[in-house]
Amino acid sequence: MHKLGILLSGRGSNFLAIADAVASGRIPDAQIAIVISNLAAAPGLAAACERGLNAIAIETNRRKRAEHDQEIIATLKAHNVDLVCLAGYMRLLSPGFIQAFPQRILNIHPSLLPAFPGLDAQTQAFEYGVQVTGCTVHFVDEQLDHGAIILQRSVSVLPTDDPHTLATRILDQEHIAYSEAIARVLSGTYRIVGRRYLPKSQP
Ligand code: GAR
Repeated sequence: MHKLGILLSGRGSNFLAIADAVASGRIPDAQIAIVISNLAAAPGLAAACERGLNAIAIETNRRKRAEHDQEIIATLKAHNVDLVCLAGYMRLLSPGFIQAFPQRILNIHPSLLPAFPGLDAQTQAFEYGVQVTGCTVHFVDEQLDHGAIILQRSVSVLPTDDPHTLATRILDQEHIAYSEAIARVLSGTYRIVGRRYLPKSQP
């Protein structure tokens, strides 16, 4: 049984989509072992509690990033987590965190990377005037929104859109993409070649 650790900071809609996918078997042979938020008031944390999942806040309390991360790592390891999913976790990870889970940390970002990394990617894309944007699930490495891409889904920008309507349609695609990407990683049938994520059957 694969054990997922979810990290979030806010609303938690991606976490809930993952939880639904686990419950319905769309992410096979997996369970959510622990949900951790850096903010005690995150609605996603309350939602996790309501679902009866292990859910805790680990706040920074003015500690240095590496020290805060060590407590999170220890908690994930204590729950035997083998895949960490960042779901709206709005903090950079320290190098020690990434080394503790090599190629076992995923993130979702609301643009087609490498376009529009960083905060408020949907508004960045809207204001730039792109006609197609979307979302990306990728491995986390030591650079922001940078690791190898697992899966992307595209969304057309409509003439009638504003940043909010666009973000809503991207979010619908995020909820599909994240679970598909997790299932793909856990299947063990893909590997990273350079920056590409390819089926192992590919010569
Ligand atoms: C999502 O749109 C996610 O892609 C984004 O935060 C939102 C969290 O929503 N993450 C980033 O921008 C990370 N760079 P949620 O809490 O409802 O899942």
